[in-house]
Amino acid sequence: MYRLEEEGKADFWEVEALYDLCFAPGREALSSYRLRDDVAPVAPLCLVLREDGVLAAAIRYWPVLVGGQPVLLLGPVAVHPTRQGEGLGGYLIHESLAEARRLGWKRVLLVGDAPYYGRFGFRRLTGVRMPPPTNPERVLGLELAPDAWAGVTGAVEKWRG
Ligand SMILES: CC(C)(COP(=O)(O)OP(=O)(O)OC[C@H]1O[C@@H](n2cnc3c(N)ncnc32)[C@H](O)[C@@H]1OP(=O)(O)O)[C@@H](O)C(=O)NCCC(=O)NCCS
Repeated sequence: MYRLEEEGKADFWEVEALYDLCFAPGREALSSYRLRDDVAPVAPLCLVLREDGVLAAAIRYWPVLVGGQPVLLLGPVAVHPTRQGEGLGGYLIHESLAEARRLGWKRVLLVGDAPYYGRFGFRRLTGVRMPPPTNPERVLGLELAPDAWAGVTGAVEKWRG
């Protein structure tokens, strides 16, 4: 039986280990991580999915700013290699985005594969620049409210809380 829960303190290192397993070494050197340094994640959107206690998938979100507007940065998201392709990633993304909408977030940003994230409604954001080096074709956005990305352009900046 699967259980979806908010990530707690006790989950932290297990989630880190899952990310280490699923991503290339040096993931924390990516420019997107500079936006996360010393910024608290959005706790209610950081979810862990367990089957009989075993961690199967996890997702985290951070707040960032674009043109002074609040934006959710989706990721990292990862599914354990033995469980990929079973819909767990899609489930985590759908559930967390629904919660983000309920919490009043209006727009979401991520750096990822358009062919995968397109199925959730993410589209290329042409006016938004991630810190280099980021392939602009991988900068994708989703609106949680009508026209929420309209006029929101510029460099992605660290959250100033
Ligand atoms: C990407 C990831 C989160 C998807 O989760 P998942 O549970 O395996 O995916 P789902 O079961 O929800 O969806 C599977 C579908 O997505 C497709 N898919 C998975 N990764 C893809 C990618 N990178 N690009 C395009 N399509 C992809 C599969 O081909 C499959 O397609 P189908 O439905 O037509 O058969 C997971 O595979 C993973 O953790 N990968 C390694 C880490 C990673 O790359 N994270 C994302 C960073 S951008």
